[in-house]
Amino acid sequence: MTENMKVAVIGQGTMGAGITEVFAKAGFEVHAVDNSEAALERGRSIVAKSTGRAVSKGKMSEEDQQAVLDRITYFTDTAQAVSDCGLIIEAVFENLELKQSIFKTVDEAAPADAILATNTSSLAITAIAAAVSSPERVVGVHFFNPAPVQTLVEVIRTVFTDDAIVAKLVELLKGLRKSPVVVNDRAGFIVNCLLVPYIGSAIYLYENGFATREEIDKAMVEQAKYPMGPLALADLIGNDVCLAVLEKMYDETKDRVQAPAPILTRLVMANMMGMKTGRGFYTYEGGKPTEDRGPIRRPLQSRGVEIHDRLVGEYLNNCVKMVQSNYASVDNIDTGMAEGCRMPKPFEVLKELTPKRVLEIVEGIYAETGEPGHRPAHLLRQLAEADDQAAAIDELRAATAEAHSSNPRG
Ligand code: 3HC
Repeated sequence: MTENMKVAVIGQGTMGAGITEVFAKAGFEVHAVDNSEAALERGRSIVAKSTGRAVSKGKMSEEDQQAVLDRITYFTDTAQAVSDCGLIIEAVFENLELKQSIFKTVDEAAPADAILATNTSSLAITAIAAAVSSPERVVGVHFFNPAPVQTLVEVIRTVFTDDAIVAKLVELLKGLRKSPVVVNDRAGFIVNCLLVPYIGSAIYLYENGFATREEIDKAMVEQAKYPMGPLALADLIGNDVCLAVLEKMYDETKDRVQAPAPILTRLVMANMMGMKTGRGFYTYEGGKPTEDRGPIRRPLQSRGVEIHDRLVGEYLNNCVKMVQSNYASVDNIDTGMAEGCRMPKPFEVLKELTPKRVLEIVEGIYAETGEPGHRPAHLLRQLAEADDQAAAIDELRAATAEAHSSNPRG
């Protein structure tokens, strides 16, 4: 795989345009595909705006910006666009039938050795792979929003995927200065499986009158040191995407804690997807939140719950559960959250707060809700009972790094 290889990106929404920019900036010729001139125009303007911001900050010259834009060719015909590409990344909206039909077209039209990747955030990669005649070359390549900024890329292999394809993709992504993390196909992968339920819990607290929208967001920015609050983040990601991820996680786990809050489904019904439609939890003008008519809820009463402790406690419990389920190592979870979302590394936070304190918080939530999904992880209890809790986390980090270096796929 060389830098002469052409890359096709199908779908020019927020993520597709961001991925197009990443490859064009790295020197690849990119074929950007969508189904109408208007959709292509939208993608073109996202890349022009993003690179324009870099020019105005003095981080890119105008000549370099022009060279990036010149490396992108726009197509409405998918088969034509992919016919000479070595890597095809699909990033259309989350609809399985649509993605399967695109993959059938791509499977027939792309060169036989091309890698066929999907940026889906909620659908099973395996279901997409199963629709084509060569599923061994189908892989998930999950970028984070904004794609030019976040360095993490999850590479998702299925039971079909050829290991050589995964290795090639990992090398290619490292060359783009991204941090690839390889995982098996499971709802939410690493980051969404941890991030989106945290957002879902914040929405639940908001809808149930625990606190105002602003109080929730402020608590997580100021106390947890997250780059943005969970409701503002839902608007950035898109409420439709958050809903799709939660629905898929709920389908797979049947855990009621994952079920989307009614207000989220209503915002999506009302086309209030967040920043991309101008209205979601907040209202936006020119990409910035403004004085708005959003669905402001007044808190009913103080429930005696500290927003920060509650959201962080649940989230860290979920991080520990993920390790306990043998899906990911401590290192990969830390890298995922830090490089995909710019959040502090969760196992460093766990060390700082101490497993004992987190266990106390989670036990409180479980006692209040009685939801099995809020039960403290067995492993969290073990860490809390260790004589030296920090050393126990370090040992867990080392043991899981070792185990996951040779973990089987599936
Ligand atoms: N496109 C390109 N670049 C962008 C951008 C965009 N849409 N938005 C911001 N940037 C760049 C800026 O140009 C700036 O670059 P510089 O450091 O080279 O000057 C840098 O990002 C920081 O931007 P700002 O100074 O304007 O603003 P902030 O410092 O407040 O950062 C943020 C904004 C990058 C959005 C930051 O708040 C952040 O990282 N938030 C968390 C976002 C997150 O969690 N993303 C993952 C969501 S999950 C996901 O995408 C998966 C999906 O499947 C659901």
